Amino acid sequence: MMKLWGGRFSKQTHKLMEEFNSSLSFDKRLYSYDIKGSIAHVKMLSRTGVLSKSEAETIIKGLQEIKEEIDEGIISLEGRYEDIHSLVEKNLIDKVGAVGGKLHTARSRNDQVALDTRLYLRDEIFNIQELLIIFLKTLLELGEKYKKVVMPGYTHLQRAQPVSMGHHLLAYYFKLKRDYDRLNDNMKRVNVLPLGCGALAGTTFPIDREWVARELGFEKIALNSIDGVSDRDYIIEFMGIAASIMVHLSRFSAELILWSSSEFSFIELDDSFTTGSSIMPQKKNPDVAELVRGKSGRIFGNLVQLLSLLKGLPLAYNKDMQEDKEALFDTIDNLKIILEIFPPMLKTMKVNKDRLYRAANRGFVNATDLADYLARKGVPFREAHGMVGKAVLYALEKDKELNQITIEEWNQLFPDYGDIFDKGLSEILDVNTSLNNRKSSGGPAPEEVERVISIEREWIESFT
Ligand code: ARG
Repeated sequence: MMKLWGGRFSKQTHKLMEEFNSSLSFDKRLYSYDIKGSIAHVKMLSRTGVLSKSEAETIIKGLQEIKEEIDEGIISLEGRYEDIHSLVEKNLIDKVGAVGGKLHTARSRNDQVALDTRLYLRDEIFNIQELLIIFLKTLLELGEKYKKVVMPGYTHLQRAQPVSMGHHLLAYYFKLKRDYDRLNDNMKRVNVLPLGCGALAGTTFPIDREWVARELGFEKIALNSIDGVSDRDYIIEFMGIAASIMVHLSRFSAELILWSSSEFSFIELDDSFTTGSSIMPQKKNPDVAELVRGKSGRIFGNLVQLLSLLKGLPLAYNKDMQEDKEALFDTIDNLKIILEIFPPMLKTMKVNKDRLYRAANRGFVNATDLADYLARKGVPFREAHGMVGKAVLYALEKDKELNQITIEEWNQLFPDYGDIFDKGLSEILDVNTSLNNRKSSGGPAPEEVERVISIEREWIESFT
């Protein structure tokens, strides 16, 4: 094996040990960040006089060539290397000779791997935020498109009060927008330079960490070398946000799955985002939504893995920490594909307006409107609530909806209330009227939804 150590060893490493120990199969994806970090490190060492200008130039040129050769597949990212750091350094020494061995002056793989991971995660957070913005834009468009499409809103999965499909979809807009904000906040902790912490106790060489931070676009440097190499909570935080995104998308998926069932028939997902059954010819299955709901489990699992990995670790670096990367990569890979596939699935779905309207007209979705109507006429709300409950019982008995009860029947039901029931009632009990009247801030009335959309459009357009 091509190792960065070996001086104090008199025996070869066992073949199984080598395989077990190697992280190359997964940390190879960090190669460009590893090289970028090394170049910044070498530039700094030459500025502070630790390396001569010409040594630094030779090393930097060698590193740049290695980057190109890896990009082009001339150097393959496999072989008996302990990790990506060893692969790069070994190739450098092969290319430029012994001077390549000076690259690792004033550095350890412990601060190096922390640097690589932070550079990588920083880029991926930006990528994920970009995907989130596209998602949010899609939801705003759909909110606008369906803002007048009345549907029953639910609590306890029981029909509750009228909302619109647009308002319902926009609920997810706000959940995901908070996740977007959470990533901004996470970035403050990710964008901190660990390089220069060394193995755990800094270095005796004169290094300029502030310069490296500026060179690599970090906002701050880690100010405790032991913390710098042992900190992984910026990853925990990211994985927690990933878990939050997945909770949101899993709930969303569960609704799409329900809504596309024959029992609901609120929506139909497009052929291009569904599959058929090998045995039941009539089936159209919502696989994307089901997979998203299913994958939320592994993304929560990755978070728990990292928490469990760290909880008993004494400071500073321990090899256990090599296990952080696969979980992180898995979360990022899955999250990106999910965020990419969800918006086009939503855009292509058909919304069954008639069915939604009919559903909103059944199941006493307008019961609160009736209670509000009575309350406006001076009946204390609690009393009105009781009256409507009685009316619902009556309607159930007669197999009617509230808006099918005639004025005569109302007067018979509640003879002590004078002429409180008038023609205005049928208007009030119309679900569209009910929707339009729910104009309170943040409410589902189309004009209020429109107002909110225009605020959010302004926010989102600041990104383009
Ligand atoms: N492959 C290691 C990791 O991912 C790199 C750091 C190794 N450090 C060490 N002291 N062996 O954590």
